[in-house]
Amino acid sequence: MKPYNIAVIAGDGIGPEVINEGINVLNTISTINPDVQFDFTHFPWGCEFYSRHGKMMDEDGIEQLSAFDSIYLGAVGFPGVPDHISLWDLLLIIRKSFDQYVNIRPVTLIKGAHCPLSDVQREEVDMLFIRENSEGEYSGAGDWLFKGKENEVVLQNSVFSRKGTERIIRYAYETAKKQGKTLTSISKANALNYSMVFWDQVFEEVGKEYPEVQTASYLVDAAAMLMIKDPKRFEVVVTSNLFGDILTDLGAALAGGIGLAAGANINPEREYPSMFEPIHGSAPDIAGQGKANPLASIWSASQMLDFFGYEQYGKMVLEAIEQLLVEGTVLTPDMGGTATTSEVGKRVNELLVSIATSKSVNN
Ligand code: NAD
Ligand code: IPM
Ligand code: MN
Repeated sequence: MKPYNIAVIAGDGIGPEVINEGINVLNTISTINPDVQFDFTHFPWGCEFYSRHGKMMDEDGIEQLSAFDSIYLGAVGFPGVPDHISLWDLLLIIRKSFDQYVNIRPVTLIKGAHCPLSDVQREEVDMLFIRENSEGEYSGAGDWLFKGKENEVVLQNSVFSRKGTERIIRYAYETAKKQGKTLTSISKANALNYSMVFWDQVFEEVGKEYPEVQTASYLVDAAAMLMIKDPKRFEVVVTSNLFGDILTDLGAALAGGIGLAAGANINPEREYPSMFEPIHGSAPDIAGQGKANPLASIWSASQMLDFFGYEQYGKMVLEAIEQLLVEGTVLTPDMGGTATTSEVGKRVNELLVSIATSKSVNN
């Protein structure tokens, strides 16, 4: 079969370290099933590229990427380049240009993962965050008036279009319906008296088309508290761009740590490539030391396999991650171990091969 063409933007800091391990995992899948092949094209874009060329990617970067089946990204941003430049000129512009309006972030406490709350059972942390990923608080629109003057004013506009709000909420209802799960909307209409009033209204309107889906709706402040106090309330969750960003870092802490948290930026219509990435950043504090946990990147590679329709292999990769955590002997320092990034990657690959072998023996 024709190989999937994957654009790799390893990016900054720990990005290249973790993405390398994800690529190894995808290559292992190709050895397990030679019909599933990947062709990786590496783009050297990021903050180092910026320091040499004064831009985060090639001028026609978006056009170059548009030819690929998907994008696999490490992390973007590093001290030396202002974050709003590095992120807007690479990561955020890709999400926007390719209309990757669905950001899927699982918050699942898998076997062997450690939840910092002592009284929580594993099954109680099993959420699927569906974050609006194309507009809202991340519209990028605003103004900076009277810079440096006494009457200085800064505006940062949120944009919630009918189309943008309806499509993400409908996607979430569809997901909850398919999975037989409840759907929770998280907003903030008490203070955000335009955007979130509209969001709540659309949530209710679209909900009329899904009478079988049980719903709940929380204000974001209360939701943050309840995610810690009673996480089992949350199954499928839909929320705005900024709230989804913040709550999924909270979710990552609940579900084993930021080193495990993966995300998929999906263009459901498949008009443009989707992008898979860990949700963490470039971690400048540990970059270049072999300490980065590659599991989030590997999990996002498993999301890519799901997206291509190879759910059986996506599942196998997750199983390998679980087995590694249950063994508990080859872990990076953030998980209490002493192993390096590549040692963890290597162990995941070994486990993956042994899972595949035992499955083929049993079939
Ligand atoms: P960060 O996620 O990079 O790091 C936060 C903390 O988590 C650090 O202590 C770091 O060491 C730790 N950490 C993160 N990933 C880890 C991993 N895989 N293994 C072990 N520990 C890990 O967040 P930050 O420090 O706020 O941001 C650093 C830079 O990354 C900034 O420039 C920021 O804008 C950028 N950023 C990029 C993305 C992205 O590309 N998707 C996401 C978040 C932040
Ligand atoms: C994430 C990141 C990005 C976001 C930043 C780096 C722009 O935090 O993917 O969670 O806010 O979406
Ligand atoms: Mn984030």
